[in-house]
Amino acid sequence: MIGMNARADSRDGGKDGPLAGRRAWISGASSGIGLACARALRGAGAELVLCARRADRLQQLTVELGGAGVLALDVTDRAAVERELAGMEVDIVINNAGLALGVDKLSAGDPADWQRVIDTNVMGVLSVTRALLPGMLARGRGDVLMIGSVAGRQVYPGGGVYCASKHAVRAIYEALRLEHVGSGVRFSTVDPGMVTNTEFSNVRLRGDEARVKAVYQGVDPLQPQDVAEAVLWILTRPPHVNVGELVLWASAQASTTSVHRRPG
Ligand SMILES: NC(=O)c1ccc[n+]([C@@H]2O[C@H](COP(=O)([O-])OP(=O)(O)OC[C@H]3O[C@@H](n4cnc5c(N)ncnc54)[C@H](OP(=O)(O)O)[C@@H]3O)[C@@H](O)[C@H]2O)c1
Repeated sequence: MIGMNARADSRDGGKDGPLAGRRAWISGASSGIGLACARALRGAGAELVLCARRADRLQQLTVELGGAGVLALDVTDRAAVERELAGMEVDIVINNAGLALGVDKLSAGDPADWQRVIDTNVMGVLSVTRALLPGMLARGRGDVLMIGSVAGRQVYPGGGVYCASKHAVRAIYEALRLEHVGSGVRFSTVDPGMVTNTEFSNVRLRGDEARVKAVYQGVDPLQPQDVAEAVLWILTRPPHVNVGELVLWASAQASTTSVHRRPG
């Protein structure tokens, strides 16, 4: 846990929209897809509890959004997750915080990087879900949504551990749907292909700008807002509809290994 008191209460009321009166927890709200989800859900009237490690970013965002709860939390810190989320009531959980590190083959990978990816992408999702789901089940309603990846459906060279982590996220989503059918809580996974205007590639390639640029060269990738719109659509379906799995590709991407690039 970093910095401020996590119990900042976001109950501000007064917002209109299809998600008015619903309270959403979003991990990884300080940049990229999580940030876009925060904007979209707030625009639809939801109350927000924003989580990430960079509290300063979240504080700035609360000003833009006209109010939100802020939780500076590292999702890999299981004790902190349990402590800070105990008793927190939310209607929507968006498990978005995640990362990849490096593009090494498994034979040359760094086990410390593997650990961080698994701890964040898998253990983080499990810890947060374990903390927030029982309350939703007791109230008989809610949405738990994963930001997975097409890497949870296909693999590619240099992505073994990241792909393993996102395959695990999809398995967790599937198990949750089976375990809690009829509970009133819906479970979904949104699995995007390549998304630009996030920090994902900067983190993965450790700030190597030339290599980051090359990832998106000659392609119109998805934007974070595209993913957020899909999330919003899922959350605003009527209660009898559970959009389980939604795969979003950029039009120029056919698979994790097939991308059409404009020449030049
Ligand atoms: N970009 C893509 O091409 C793409 C494609 C498919 C799926 N995804 C998935 O989309 C999700 C969001 O990624 P993004 O592209 O938006 O990347 P991003 O801009 O790097 O955002 C990642 C977010 O996760 C947070 N985070 C990372 N580690 C954390 C931790 N230990 N505890 C709490 N928060 C943590 C970061 O905030 P702090 O650093 O402030 O903690 C940041 O807000 C990830 O799960 C990623 O795997 C991305």
